[in-house]
Amino acid sequence: MRVTLFGASGLLGQDLVRELSREHEPLTALSSKDADLRDRARVRTVIRDSRPEWILLSAAYTDVDGCESNRDRAFAVNCEGAVNVAEAAREAGSRLLVLSTDYVFDGAKRSPYQTTDPRNPTGVYGESKARAEERLLEILPEVCIVRTSWLFGHAGKCFPATILKLASTRPEISVVNDQRGSPTFTRDLATALVRLCRADARGIVHVTNSGNCTWYEFGTEIVRASGLPCVVKPVTTAEFPRPARRPAYSVLSPESLHAYNIHMPDWQDALRRYLESASTASMVSTV
Ligand SMILES: NC(=O)c1ccc[n+]([C@@H]2O[C@H](COP(=O)([O-])OP(=O)(O)OC[C@H]3O[C@@H](n4cnc5c(N)ncnc54)[C@H](OP(=O)(O)O)[C@@H]3O)[C@@H](O)[C@H]2O)c1
Repeated sequence: MRVTLFGASGLLGQDLVRELSREHEPLTALSSKDADLRDRARVRTVIRDSRPEWILLSAAYTDVDGCESNRDRAFAVNCEGAVNVAEAAREAGSRLLVLSTDYVFDGAKRSPYQTTDPRNPTGVYGESKARAEERLLEILPEVCIVRTSWLFGHAGKCFPATILKLASTRPEISVVNDQRGSPTFTRDLATALVRLCRADARGIVHVTNSGNCTWYEFGTEIVRASGLPCVVKPVTTAEFPRPARRPAYSVLSPESLHAYNIHMPDWQDALRRYLESASTASMVSTV
């Protein structure tokens, strides 16, 4: 399976590189320096030259709060950039798998979102991704759009890394308890994405670790599992206002993934493996 990956330097992208290399797949791995999604001609050239069977589009402008004050950039990268890739994929006859987000939903539901539920984003980041979904389905009806949520992994900034840092320097931390979703380990997601390509997946698929929690519950579990003597206090979103409104509930139903006979481990198990490999990595770096 010849793959071209946009976003190879990102949190998920680095685990995709690892997963594809482990499976000895021929891979063209690109960061923004190799090909900016906004540069239509460059995107076409790299796709034409690498002749991929599958294009994986993990690249995006992912700063959810930053998108609120940079609407043009959010749409240029996340929507028009994705359109550039889809048009080049159509020209080259390549399959395309694109990452999208739980933030395409408004969070008003209290049961898991189905792939058929209407999009109604509450912020610019979600809007740019929702519009991209619509455009890509028009341009390339066989596109595979994978919505995921609350990513954590070893390759960059993420919630568990932030909590571990704060909890090791403070006696008490406050974490919001009125947003519920599914934390997702980038290693598990990368494995599932490669399996979806092999299964010739198309349409919208929801892929997260199973189970769900609030950020407070996630933070409590991180502190408990790491054995740090820090108290985690629940607070409301209203007490911690941020530029972008986030959905209060964004659990994604796994039915669309189960249809491919792929089942994800639960988030507590994923967190345990993340913490184990994080501590092994820090032991190696101090030797
Ligand atoms: N993080 C989450 O919690 C989350 C949740 C749901 C969905 N997602 C989606 O999952 C995907 C992966 O997210 P992530 O957290 O791994 O992202 P990330 O760590 O922020 O990485 C973003 C990647 O996109 C590249 N990129 C940014 N702007 C670009 C541009 N203009 N042209 C080309 N490449 C560009 C970056 O390259 P450089 O390193 O060169 O800048 C980097 O490789 C994204 O589509 C995101 O929307 C993420």
